[in-house]
Amino acid sequence: MGASGSGKTSMRSLIFSNNPASLTSRLGATIDVEQNHVRFLGDLILNLWDCGGQDAFMDSYLATQRSTIFSHVGVMIYVFEVESRNESEMVYYADCLDALKTYSPESAVFLLVHKMDLIREPKEPVFEARKKQLLDATGDTVASIFGTSIYDESLYRAWSQIVHSLIPNATVLSKHLTTFADACSATEVVLFERTTFLVIATSSSSQSQRSALDPTRYERTSELIKAFKYSCSRIREEFHTLCVELDGFTAVLDEMTKNTYVLVIIHNPVIEVSAIKLNIAMARRKFE
Ligand code: GTP
Repeated sequence: MGASGSGKTSMRSLIFSNNPASLTSRLGATIDVEQNHVRFLGDLILNLWDCGGQDAFMDSYLATQRSTIFSHVGVMIYVFEVESRNESEMVYYADCLDALKTYSPESAVFLLVHKMDLIREPKEPVFEARKKQLLDATGDTVASIFGTSIYDESLYRAWSQIVHSLIPNATVLSKHLTTFADACSATEVVLFERTTFLVIATSSSSQSQRSALDPTRYERTSELIKAFKYSCSRIREEFHTLCVELDGFTAVLDEMTKNTYVLVIIHNPVIEVSAIKLNIAMARRKFE
């Protein structure tokens, strides 16, 4: 949900259709609702509704289509352009929350303050002010708020959290990944969804190990690999696996299951890449 031009279809085309940000300016306005189905992990299918934001469509969602649009919602993602100060946007937003409370009271709410790239540094005070304004308008609804842009990794951070909140067995997955990480002597193991490269789950490393790692590593990896996959597709090559051996650490990214990729990070120079790959091959059956 969100006003027309706020960037909903752009983010969908980047994350779910692997298009680059530069092509989003060619997108036309969404007419009514466009639906996407993405298969995550076996039987788990993400059903994504991109609701065109022109006023006539919003009026229709909130009146005649109210029960259709707002029933069985897992999460509502409302996109606000960071610089827009449109009064009617807040009225629509409040009405959407109202409809959600009636038809899907259990659903989570994510607010994306989008097009953060248009703001000059320092961005933080602008984001905080917008966040406060949205939270004040939200009343008692608990919402997670992210600053996003299609031109950097921030979009992957927000969407990974959104998808993570929808995965019913995320903690079990995380437990299995931790066992796998221990078996490989890995510092960290991360599971990505194959098409979107969003983070599904990670192993839980110790506090001291974690503080030494870059806090933006997950979303930056998603963004980099997506860009690399796009480059591969332009020369008609398919992306399969990636190994990086640098002074101090080894990283192996390989297929785990039909719908997932696994990234194994190892800081022990004695462990060979082939041993990591063998471990991934042996773990595959367990994760299928
Ligand atoms: P409707 O389909 O009418 O509801 O609009 P929408 O919310 O789907 O907007 P759309 O994705 O079509 O984006 C509108 C314009 O915003 C496009 O020209 C995009 O290139 C641009 N845009 C999207 N995301 C960003 C962003 O993060 N930063 C900047 N600067 N522009 C963006």
